[in-house]
Amino acid sequence: MRIALLTSGGDSPGMNAAIRAVVRECIYNDIEVFGVKFGYQGLIDNNIYKMNVYSVADIIQRGGTILKTSRCMEMYEEEGVKKAADTLKANDINNLIVIGGDGSYKGARSLAKYDINVITIPGTIDNDVACTDYSIGFDTAVNTVVEAISKIRDTSLSHNRASVVEVMGRNCGNLAISSGLAGGAEAIIVPEREYDLSKICEKMIKGKDRGKLHSIIVFAEGAGDINDFASGVEGLTGLTVNVTDLGYIQRGGSPTAFDRILAARMGSMAVELLKNGEKYKAVCYRGGDYVAMDLDEALSMSSPFDEESYEVAMHLSI
Ligand code: F6P
Repeated sequence: MRIALLTSGGDSPGMNAAIRAVVRECIYNDIEVFGVKFGYQGLIDNNIYKMNVYSVADIIQRGGTILKTSRCMEMYEEEGVKKAADTLKANDINNLIVIGGDGSYKGARSLAKYDINVITIPGTIDNDVACTDYSIGFDTAVNTVVEAISKIRDTSLSHNRASVVEVMGRNCGNLAISSGLAGGAEAIIVPEREYDLSKICEKMIKGKDRGKLHSIIVFAEGAGDINDFASGVEGLTGLTVNVTDLGYIQRGGSPTAFDRILAARMGSMAVELLKNGEKYKAVCYRGGDYVAMDLDEALSMSSPFDEESYEVAMHLSI
């Protein structure tokens, strides 16, 4: 058996640990494993190399992805998909493991019509893959954001200011919700829900009347214009409002133990599935168990939005 492996979309901490798990599980099972560089782009360009036990030495603790990654627009065109499949066939490979987010899953599925079998592993800081409770990298990113919020809180408190902290999440507010909940945010603004500026400010004014002159608002990047929001808050509350964009520091860093374990278990499971002749499966972590779901079913699941945590965060932010 010959398996190819790629990482796709935005990188996430723990991708390397997942690569290591796939490669080591293959070697343990006498399966030949090939790394594809730069995600689907590497498939299109035939940028493939054979991996061995040394290829993944000392990477478990490293952020990013040694296989590199890309957002490959050609995979949205039929011609690109065919080229990718042709490369695999030319290398005598018809099993592919894809580590990535929502968009990467769609690319994986489109290879099915060329008889390329795919197994997906969720790897994204957005936690926007609906079939799994956690994607690799999310926990590390939440911890990075919470650490930043704690630091911002120190200075907000010292100066009696409100701080609006922008976190990643173009279409999905889960990173904002978890880090806002863990960071004790007064409000969390997400792309999935309209925000009510006057309600948020009413709450802040009530706090101000009680003597609370600082606050933290977590704002997901896809939720609108953060500067409009900040000046709106400043205008209605009379508080000084600072904006901090955490940017790409959220995507880097050494993965947490949780993400490394998730990566190890999911990488190992993906190889086991292929060994057992399973086809078109999404590896998921659901309710504390590692499970394989049909890829089509996984793709048909709609919202990964963490409604319950969002509600709890609202209750606690009085
Ligand atoms: O990795 C996911 C993500 O972080 C999104 O939240 C964000 O919108 C996007 O990547 C930005 O990444 P890039 O600038 O690399 O396209």
